[in-house]
Parts: sequence; structure tokens; C-alpha cells
Amino acid sequence: MKKLILLAAGAALALALGLLPALAAGDMPAADATALWNYISKVSPYKQWGQFPDHKGMLASKSPHGAFTQIWASASALSAKKAPLPAGSIIVKEGMGQDKKVSSVVVMYKVKGFNPEAGDWFWALYDPDGTAKASGKVAACISCHSVKADNDYLAAHAIK
Ligand code: HEC
Repeated sequence: MKKLILLAAGAALALALGLLPALAAGDMPAADATALWNYISKVSPYKQWGQFPDHKGMLASKSPHGAFTQIWASASALSAKKAPLPAGSIIVKEGMGQDKKVSSVVVMYKVKGFNPEAGDWFWALYDPDGTAKASGKVAACISCHSVKADNDYLAAHAIK
């Protein structure tokens, strides 16, 4: 009996050790609007992330994203001291109207090799319930954010 328990414990340990690297590698979502929404809403809810020191809380905005905006960034995006941000970085922005109710969620997700001509960003625009309105190499997002290409396409936060 003791032997059996030991065997079972050994098997469980081997399984755990084998699974850990797989989990770590499979951690980040694919360059896909549904997978990305699942990640930022369930796997690693963005409201638990930090905010850029130069864009904290709900701020008035002149961008097309809403009269007010609020931005959260993944740990790697927050700690980056120079452009470009590391692969896997995610930036989520809520757009609010004058009523300060969230009307859209836009996301920039850095995916190595996804679009080298424009900073390897995967762009996505969602309704507040997660319905994707546009995603991928969205020309409108890229063309406006291109004025900040030397800041890795970020408009609200200066990387330095
Ligand atoms: C006409 C210009 C324009 C277009 C088009 C545009 N953006 Fe932006 N975006 C901005 C500006 C300006 C800011 C920062 C200002 C602010 O937060 O008020 C910003 C901020 C952001 C941020 C926060 C990170 C950052 O860059 O500071 C994300 C994420 C973002 N936009 C995603 C998108 C996505 C996705 C699209 C396309 C669906 C898009 N944007 C289209 C102008 C634009």
C-alpha cells in the first residue's frame, strides 16, 4: 500500500513537472481577437494590471477612443525602459463617453513576427462585452499610431 502511495505521488510529481513548462509556454494567447479577449478578461484580467505613471486613472482624451480614457499595461510593458516593448506586452484602453460609461475597449498586443513593418502589434477593437469589431493589422489604427512609431506606436505613454 505504502509503495502504491509513493508510486502515485511520484507520478503526480512527474506530471506536474512535465506540465509546468507546457503551461508557461502556452501562457500567451494567439494573435486572435477571441483568444486575446479571453486572456485579458479571464486568464489575466487587465483591471488587475498596473497603469503607466504618465497616464493614471481616468483622463480626458482628444483621441478617437472616447471623451475619457483609462489605460492598463502588462508588467513587461510597464517596466520597459526603451522602445520597442518586449514581445508579449499588452496595453488595454477603455474608451468612455461624456457619461463616463465604457463604450469601447482597444488593445495593442505585441506578437513577435506578426507585423514587422509596423512594430509587430496585433490591434483589436471590442465592444465592452468583448465582441470584436476589428482586429489584426488594422490599417486605421496603424496609420494614426504611426506618428509615434519611434515610441513603439504608443500615443499616451512615453517609453523612457
Ligand atoms: C485618429 C488617431 C487614432 C486612431 C485611428 C486610433 N488611435 Fe489609438 N490612440 C490615439 C491617441 C491620440 C491615443 C492616446 C491618447 C489618449 O489616451 O487620450 C491612443 C491610445 C491608444 C492605446 C493606448 C496605448 C497608447 O498608444 O498610448 C491603445 C491600446 C490604442 N490607442 C489602440 C488603438 C486601436 C486598436 C485602434 C484601431 C482600432 C486605434 N488605437 C486607432 C489615436 C488613435
